[in-house]
Amino acid sequence: MKTVVRDLMTSPAITCTSSDSLATAARTMREAETGSVVVTDAGKVVGILTERDLLRAAAASADPGNDAVALWMTAHPDVLGADEEVDAAWASLTAHHYRHLPVVEGNALRGVISLRDLMGMARIRPASESSIDVPPGLEGVLVAETTVGDVRGQEGFFHYRQYSAVDLAERRSLEDVWHLLFRGELPDAAMGAAFAAEVRSRRGLPAGLTGILPALARQGAPLEVLRSAVSVLGSELGWRPTHDIDAAELADQSLGLCAVVPTILATAHRLREGLEPVEPRADLDFAANYLYMLTGRAPTAEHARAIEQYMILTIDHGFNASTFTARVITSTGADLGAAIVGAIGALSGPLHGGAPSRALDMLDAIGTADRAEAYIRRAVEDGDRIMGFGHRVYKTDDPRSLLLRSVTERLGGPLVALSQDVERTTVDVLAELKPGRQLYTNVEFYAGVVMHTCGIPRDMFTPTFAAGRTIGWCTHVMEQASHNRLIRPAARYVGPPPPQPVPTP
Ligand code: ACO
Repeated sequence: MKTVVRDLMTSPAITCTSSDSLATAARTMREAETGSVVVTDAGKVVGILTERDLLRAAAASADPGNDAVALWMTAHPDVLGADEEVDAAWASLTAHHYRHLPVVEGNALRGVISLRDLMGMARIRPASESSIDVPPGLEGVLVAETTVGDVRGQEGFFHYRQYSAVDLAERRSLEDVWHLLFRGELPDAAMGAAFAAEVRSRRGLPAGLTGILPALARQGAPLEVLRSAVSVLGSELGWRPTHDIDAAELADQSLGLCAVVPTILATAHRLREGLEPVEPRADLDFAANYLYMLTGRAPTAEHARAIEQYMILTIDHGFNASTFTARVITSTGADLGAAIVGAIGALSGPLHGGAPSRALDMLDAIGTADRAEAYIRRAVEDGDRIMGFGHRVYKTDDPRSLLLRSVTERLGGPLVALSQDVERTTVDVLAELKPGRQLYTNVEFYAGVVMHTCGIPRDMFTPTFAAGRTIGWCTHVMEQASHNRLIRPAARYVGPPPPQPVPTP
């Protein structure tokens, strides 16, 4: 329920008449401990006299015993209705620099409302603090300037630096895109080769992490293990707060972290499965080496390229929840490990990165195209979310899902036809049951199909997402650290009005 002026006003209002003397009015104010009196004649509001008016009168050497209130009051003041929302009171008081306004109902005076009432009780913040209301979930709110990239939801377009991300996924290697993000430009052939060699040389696990990983791998789900492993890595390598290091040191830590995350993931996966870990191979690119370390077999060029394209498409995507988390943590000056651990945590949720295995589970549960409509209809009617559909920013086809759909066609396999049927059915059912919401496939729907076809086990889908996204997170950490200001928003308190007396036990 909205708070209205009546809920917050002081009632009854302290009054005097226009023929009272200033001294009488001042005494009334002092006795009532208020900063204003409403001036009424025959019960009708004719003015308001405030402490400010008394000061003006004193400065002009008025005669308080004889000067009538009528001489110094603000005549015909604005008034507020008792049932108006407090926002109207706030707007009126602040726009005109009033401190008090009479509150009426019809012609009858019901009370007075002051800035103090609003600030103390209405949960509206003092003017010195932000009073900007933003939509739940910060939808559409600009929180920073970035040169990393952007997402244009209505157009179904996103870019890294100045290049279309889809064009990059179609035409360049992951290492080239990594170079673009970290160094600000696409490399030429020689620069690209040097960069690729540099990152390949940093894939090995340091001794401390190697020793602890078997125990970590037994403990939890792959992303939980990754979180712990990144913490261990940061301590082992002595990462200091971003606040205390320069850009070159942070860039070096970031490069090493991105190079080693696939090794952590693949090693922990194999340990958990009771398999011998596989050492990274320096002759393979990022995605191919990841698949190799995961499965123990060199992937086909087709599979390696499919996963590379998936990773390029998901390397960065505006101020999504995990990226924003990494930036918030960096804004405190904390170290790189802290920021990436937080980002991994945010990614793990099913509303963000945790959806692709669930989308594939759904395809399994549907089984055949003829069962899709009944399945989706029942799920939506039961209030369930269809995994891999809907997006905060895209209100049209997610360009990542379009490219990944074409990748599934290229790869072939039993899921291609079923997934396309289920996509069509789901879009139709959602359009009917959730009209106007503009729900289409997001990146996660076909991501599951691509990863499954390339031999990645289901519990490694979101970790595979994290392997590439670490590059995006680190790019944002570096940008945040280079122009840092603590990210510290505010919330509106909506609990019982404080201060309440503390009960004695
Ligand atoms: N299935 C059914 N209904 C949906 C779906 C969905 N997948 N997505 C949104 N809706 C409906 C909601 O029920 C809501 O309906 P209502 O107005 O009747 O209450 C309406 O659409 C708006 O939903 P919001 O939750 O306000 O949309 P928001 O922008 O907050 O959510 C999100 C975006 C979280 C991605 C959502 O679409 C969703 O839950 N999708 C399923 C999970 C998923 O696929 N996550 C991966 C996202 S991609 C990524 O992060 C990499």
